Amino acid sequence: MRLDLMSWPEVDIYLKGRNDIVVPIGSTEQHGPNGLVGTDALCAEVIGRAVGEKAAAVVAPTISIGMAQHHLGFPGSMSLRPSTLLAVVRDVIASLAQQGFLRISFVNGHGGNIATVTAAFAEFYSETSFSAGRTATRVECRLRNWWEAPSVQTITSELFGDAEGMHATASEVSVTQFAFPNAIKRVDLDPEIAPTGVFTDAVSYCLAFPDGRIGSNPTLASPEAGARLVEAAASDLAVDHLKWIGRHEA
Ligand code: NI
Repeated sequence: MRLDLMSWPEVDIYLKGRNDIVVPIGSTEQHGPNGLVGTDALCAEVIGRAVGEKAAAVVAPTISIGMAQHHLGFPGSMSLRPSTLLAVVRDVIASLAQQGFLRISFVNGHGGNIATVTAAFAEFYSETSFSAGRTATRVECRLRNWWEAPSVQTITSELFGDAEGMHATASEVSVTQFAFPNAIKRVDLDPEIAPTGVFTDAVSYCLAFPDGRIGSNPTLASPEAGARLVEAAASDLAVDHLKWIGRHEA
């Protein structure tokens, strides 16, 4: 169920029976010459909504802009500073928690978000810890990276092996090709498999990875692979989600 397509009385009824919600979070940043700028947000949204369907859970609107400062050298990339993203995530949690959403699961599409989103959880927990101590209403937040789902990893290594890479990966480009077939880009890449290495800021990123990819060959991407990956990710994450809320409802 999409939260943005529900009325408040419908949300109220949901909250009388459950207290869980899925929040997709991604990024809007370059994904190499054939990847969409919205890849990380689109993957999180498609998979997050599929998790919501399988687990009959409410799904919040996607947080589409993440912490992507290192991508700002490429046109179209947008970033929140870590401090800004932390404040956004903290306020999203606080909004939902005061209404009774006590199990908040972020389905993440961008590795660069992990440290900041995890810090935002601690920031939110600190507010209640400092103000209410042991009497605080217990809220639990968690982050799940869709590409780390076990079934996703199996498919990825079977289809792409070492050409999967670390950024603008064959798997994430496949997911967007499945979800948005009209936006598929056909581009020759040179070298086929991008270099790997380290980076700090946008300047060092552009020097190390001139076309934006890290270690990947996303010309291997296909809509068919994307369909398999979405199903695999959603199945794994939905089972995981239901186990999580079952544990707390028991
Ligand atoms: Ni990505």
